[in-house]
Amino acid sequence: MGHHLPDRVVTNHDLSRLMDTSDEWIRERTGIVERRFVDEGTSCTDLAEAASRKALDRAGWSVDDVDFILFATLSPDLYFPGNGVLLQTQLGMGHVGALDLRTQCTGFVYALATADAYIRSGMYRRILVVGAEVHSRGLRMTNEGRDTAVLFGDGAGAACVEAVDGEGLLAHALHGDGAHALDLCIRKPGLGSSPFISPEQIEAGDTAPSMNGREVFKNAVRRFPEVIAEVLEKAGHTPEELDFLVPHQANARITEAVRSRMGMPEEKVASNIHRYGNTTAGSIPIALSEAVEAGQVKRGDLVCLAAFGAGFTWAASLLRW
Ligand code: ACO
Repeated sequence: MGHHLPDRVVTNHDLSRLMDTSDEWIRERTGIVERRFVDEGTSCTDLAEAASRKALDRAGWSVDDVDFILFATLSPDLYFPGNGVLLQTQLGMGHVGALDLRTQCTGFVYALATADAYIRSGMYRRILVVGAEVHSRGLRMTNEGRDTAVLFGDGAGAACVEAVDGEGLLAHALHGDGAHALDLCIRKPGLGSSPFISPEQIEAGDTAPSMNGREVFKNAVRRFPEVIAEVLEKAGHTPEELDFLVPHQANARITEAVRSRMGMPEEKVASNIHRYGNTTAGSIPIALSEAVEAGQVKRGDLVCLAAFGAGFTWAASLLRW
């Protein structure tokens, strides 16, 4: 694992100078204290490159060892092509395949499950799996955009995935419900309706996230425990056997609701939302990478990664670290 966060720290107090909000409001409802924003000149692919180089270094792989790239993001550098090929070129790789995944908060879990399936099928041996976001440039730093602007941050995480003898990735569960697509989305630019993008749509905030916060909250606290139970059952494990849980860092209140419903102690549940906000596809690999660095996740531990987000999609992976 490797992760990378931009250096620039943006506190709740900093945001309260740009819009009508307060440290108290944000902290109370989300647990977020500060987040990181990129400086001009840094892209999502740049963050992904830095995270990938750390992961490659820790795995003892050179760039030439990578057979395939899976890149999860909702904030790509370009409308097309995807960030996978941009990362491939920035890392100085050969012409390996690169696939972008667009399942937002569950992006890293979907990508990990995809990597696992490719490797088990014998199609590839070593896959670089990346989750990265630059949200800061897409947020509306105004009173109109404050409901979502305070939630998100920039960051990237990466994993080197290869076949091992014995236990590794044990089970995955992937779900979606498009009936909720508009409860959390960015409406424009888009080709589902005309125009592709207009100055009026930008002015109206259609290029920033739009969210039905209560619907997200209600579904998240239901789907997280459900999907965690599903992967545990698939792999023949019980909740009591779980050594560590890495939930997508959406909101401290969602994590707390899931933790208490599962009866897990705080030290067994990853939480860095206070420092980074919601980094969407970056959130799980960043949190897992930090937990490994801090010794919270040790060799042989049973670890569950779980996410809920836009789509709606929800997903979990169970693994033996
Ligand atoms: N600062 C101050 N006031 C604000 C802000 C802000 N940043 N944003 C909204 N408000 C105001 C609203 O305008 C509203 O004012 P009003 O009562 O005068 O109309 C008031 O605060 C309350 O707004 P609500 O939306 O009712 O606030 P709520 O208590 O529901 O909290 C929140 C909002 C935190 C978004 C909550 O719904 C939530 O936690 N939802 C889960 C969504 C989430 O975590 N999304 C993350 C992305 S999705 C994912 O990763 C899973």
